[in-house]
Amino acid sequence: MSATVRPQEPALQETGLMVDRLGKTFPGRGMPTVAVDNVSFAVAPRQVTILLGPSGCGKSTVLRMIAGLDTPTSGRIVLNGVPVTGPNRDRGMVFQGYTSFPWLTVRRNVAYGLRINGDAIALAEGAVDYFLDRVGLSRFADAWPHQLSGGMRQRVALARALATTPQLLLMDEPFGALDSETRWQMQELLLDVIRKERMTVIMVTHDVEEALLLGDQIIFLSSHPGRVKTVLHPPFKQDAAISTREELRAHPRYAGMERDILRMMREEAAH
Ligand SMILES: Nc1ncnc2c1ncn2[C@@H]1O[C@H](COP(=O)(O)OP(=O)(O)O)[C@@H](O)[C@H]1O
Ligand SMILES: [Mg+2]
Repeated sequence: MSATVRPQEPALQETGLMVDRLGKTFPGRGMPTVAVDNVSFAVAPRQVTILLGPSGCGKSTVLRMIAGLDTPTSGRIVLNGVPVTGPNRDRGMVFQGYTSFPWLTVRRNVAYGLRINGDAIALAEGAVDYFLDRVGLSRFADAWPHQLSGGMRQRVALARALATTPQLLLMDEPFGALDSETRWQMQELLLDVIRKERMTVIMVTHDVEEALLLGDQIIFLSSHPGRVKTVLHPPFKQDAAISTREELRAHPRYAGMERDILRMMREEAAH
């Protein structure tokens, strides 16, 4: 069984991602919408960056531009020294909805991203088993998506993105549709996977606990237009003593950081 041997290191280079004075204006009937204005931040390799802020502040728009699914109106995005001009397999994406194919088994779903990228099947099988194991789905490799719970289907989506060994994992509220208990299980699982695989991640959320648990840096965006209001550096992901929700909440710095963010959320909502 190859499940315990990592088949391939992600081809991470040490330069990371640079988001430089990014702007996005959507033309509209009459009034254009300035969704994102002058947003800049850097993402170091193996760092988790959280885009946090109230609904409509431009989080998804920033992430979609990093994914290459949307074009900036101004500014630029540079990944490992190369400007982003469109989607590429160096960036893997996990969305909120359940995106597994109902006609494929769990294993085939996870293998799907590799096959369309033309990898050798031998490598694909090794990577698939490895990442099924990582997300705790080895026993369900031959199950069908409709036999799985919502949380398990999101684990399939996560395993599929991980199996392509992207340089950058992009996630837009991946646990937003899950009930709160399943959500916590997934957050703890993701923390474990990110640490072990040393992933570089950009994740959109409006869940404050999720942001604090997983983030090395939190880019807090204000709304209308979306601008960087503040950047926070939570210590929790770096702290090996923290792997669960209870440990996070018991940390002496947790309550203060949560309070500061909730206050900013409230200020933004009042605008
Ligand atoms: N394709 C689009 N066309 C027009 N306006 C859009 C489009 N996508 C997003 N917007 C607008 O841009 C703003 C930011 O949206 P979005 O990035 O989805 O916010 P968030 O993900 O933070 O909730 C919102 O005002 C939204 O209505
Ligand atoms: Mg969004």
